[in-house]
Amino acid sequence: MDFSLNEEQLQARKMVRDFAQKEVIPVIGEWDRKQEMNPAFLPRMAELGILGINIPVRYGGQGFDYVTLGLVCEELERADTTLRVVMSVHMGLNSMALLQWGTEEQKQHFLTPQAKGEKYAAFCLTEPGIGSDVQNMNSTAKKVGDKYILNGEKMWISLASKAHHFLYFAKTDPSQGAKGITAFIVTSDMPGVTTGDIHGKLGVRAGSTGWVKCEDVELTAANRLGEEGEGFKIAMSCLDNGRYTVGSGATGLIRACLEESIKYAEQRVTFGVPISQHQLVKQKIAFMQQWYDAAFLLNMRVGWLKNQGIRNTRETSVAKWYATDHSVQAALEAVQVHGAYGFSDEYPVERYLRNSKGGVIYEGTSEIHQLMQADYAFGFREDKPLRCELPAYDAEYWQNEPELA
Ligand code: CAA
Repeated sequence: MDFSLNEEQLQARKMVRDFAQKEVIPVIGEWDRKQEMNPAFLPRMAELGILGINIPVRYGGQGFDYVTLGLVCEELERADTTLRVVMSVHMGLNSMALLQWGTEEQKQHFLTPQAKGEKYAAFCLTEPGIGSDVQNMNSTAKKVGDKYILNGEKMWISLASKAHHFLYFAKTDPSQGAKGITAFIVTSDMPGVTTGDIHGKLGVRAGSTGWVKCEDVELTAANRLGEEGEGFKIAMSCLDNGRYTVGSGATGLIRACLEESIKYAEQRVTFGVPISQHQLVKQKIAFMQQWYDAAFLLNMRVGWLKNQGIRNTRETSVAKWYATDHSVQAALEAVQVHGAYGFSDEYPVERYLRNSKGGVIYEGTSEIHQLMQADYAFGFREDKPLRCELPAYDAEYWQNEPELA
């Protein structure tokens, strides 16, 4: 078993770490307070190639592997959750689905500009009354001649008002439950598409979260991803990728709590000694270190499985559940280490605590993941082969331009 990272992975991690240290960490507190997304971040992430990091070069990406995607998400969330959320929706839940399920034409037309960062992408599954209970969604895409007429409203959509492309799930046959759901690529400039932002969130305040409404939006088969009725499976396969980005990001949030707590404990003096000398402070640091290591390894296993092209729904679920749950624990402990200062926005740990709470809710609540793990353990649930698997990482294919005919 080889736990070492290769040169390319280390290089990508360093590039994102430098960006986070120099351009995000110094200003992020201010944007969080303003509750606005810094307009410079998305273009800068595009420029650095982050928005296409693990997409093959032939589709406008950087050609790195799935382990690198996890490392990038860790570095982004070390700085702030909002930047990792961008990767979760743009890459994990949307671009990777186009790579997995898209036709060649859809890859050229939608994936390539997304990977280049010319277009931003989002994922529209959740509705105002429908979160975990995906199969009961109310959005419909009614077939009329050779067109689909899409109606519905999606809620809690990251990048709702910023994205150009949406992966939108709707029922083409409401009588079939989960098997009547179909996935569509919708663009923000289509007549009948409106979006808006949600304000007053506990965390992810420097990010963009909102709603997407579709009223009589006309779509054709060219907008359909996969076959009619495959939408539920496609949504679940998207979540296998999105949850990996969330779990890897939460690993970075645990590391942020650990690093900031160590820094503070070394300079804060009580009872005549730095608080790093007090056993109960040491215990908190020790737990954070343990949670970081376990979260890192669980998520790297997922990256490795994806590189091999092995179905990883269970491993992704446990990695996401563990990392996000422990990021909340780590943030609580980090605030405690900082004492009263942890209660103020003079230090970043109160932001970490507010941001951590989203991770145990979006992309499957911790309770959904517990149910899934128990069902796997009992054998009630199994990972079956898919019609279309996420392709295994093949450096030759990923890094080379296609040969001209
Ligand atoms: N990949 C491919 N196919 C899959 C799959 C996967 N990961 N998981 C399940 N399937 C297939 C199954 O094989 C099964 O196929 P067959 O009918 O052919 O046997 C079919 O889909 C149904 O699967 P299940 O029986 O496992 O489905 P379920 O009804 O038990 O699933 C659930 C229930 C686990 C609660 C699921 O609905 C779920 O995960 N809900 C949570 C939804 C979620 O995470 N929402 C977050 C939205 S994203 C977001 O928040 C974005 C944002 O912008 C922040």
